[in-house]
Amino acid sequence: MKDLAKKSGITYTTLMSMVQKPVDTWKTQNQVKVSSALGEDIIASAKIQAPTPFIKWVGGKRQLLPQLKKYIPNNFETYFEPFVGGGALLLALQPERAVINDFNPDLYFAWSAVKEDLHHLTELLAVHQNKNSKEYYLDIRSMDRDGRIVRLSDTERAARFIYMNKTGFNGLWRVNSKGQNNVPFGTYTNPQIVPPSLPYVSKYLSRNDVQIFNLDYQDIMDSAKQNDFVYFDPPYIPVNLTSTFTSYTAGGFGLVQQEELRDLALELASDGVSVMLSNADVPLTKELYQDKAFKIHHVKANRAINSKATGRGKIGEVIITTY
Ligand SMILES: C[S@@+](CC[C@H](N)C(=O)[O-])C[C@H]1O[C@@H](n2cnc3c(N)ncnc32)[C@H](O)[C@@H]1O
Repeated sequence: MKDLAKKSGITYTTLMSMVQKPVDTWKTQNQVKVSSALGEDIIASAKIQAPTPFIKWVGGKRQLLPQLKKYIPNNFETYFEPFVGGGALLLALQPERAVINDFNPDLYFAWSAVKEDLHHLTELLAVHQNKNSKEYYLDIRSMDRDGRIVRLSDTERAARFIYMNKTGFNGLWRVNSKGQNNVPFGTYTNPQIVPPSLPYVSKYLSRNDVQIFNLDYQDIMDSAKQNDFVYFDPPYIPVNLTSTFTSYTAGGFGLVQQEELRDLALELASDGVSVMLSNADVPLTKELYQDKAFKIHHVKANRAINSKATGRGKIGEVIITTY
């Protein structure tokens, strides 16, 4: 036990009192620490009903979780995830105090409704499930063209988003420059529109101190302090650099934004915040993160990076840490 305490970073006394109780009553952070110290997924072995992402999201981190978990600091106070997307790492860690953010407003409505209005959200999704067809999808999609969207309540907007994520082509969420969704109807024969993980995600969000924001990532980092932990999972640097990427200044996430993110990471690290980032394993990433404050870990992820079948397969990614 002493050895396990040392390897997991949990104090001996805490570990001794934990082992008297079933694994599913332990704090998630402790389940994760013991799992990595033992080299065995005790969460899966105990068949704990864990919350998992309720949407498909481009760049979702489900496949990279085992590698990401290896690099999380043993102890931290508040967890920050400023580009939360589907929140794979947040839900895997279930920190007691968290600040999450995404500048996509629909995603924000979804996270908020799952936290605060689960019952109504589930009812609305069940209605979408019953009515689902190509015509119905296209009608719901057109709400952002004919102005109906502004009359939707926040929870109705969340339900529209989740419904379209489950039925649209490849689970994509893509809007044009006017903010109008243009994803065609998908080809799923029997899509599951009410995500089974919703109650578990809702329980986690509502029983812990989780604050949800819809801002630019920089605007939520002011409150980060010593011993906090931030995981930045920004839009990745493209594998083939184009002039559009290098000339981006507003709106998208171009070179300027990647440099600003790197500078913020350095600033946070010097304030004693533990910073972890992921990005594509491309020469520019190495160049941007050459400061000796950063450690670059090369990993492979098996996931869909775009809607074309040819875009799938093992792609190189890096996990960068400042600790
Ligand atoms: C790679 S995805 C994150 C994926 C997430 N880790 C997951 O597991 O699903 C990047 C996210 O950053 C968001 N985003 C892009 N630019 C942003 C900005 N300036 N501030 C905050 N969020 C932004 C996008 O909406 C997208 O959800």
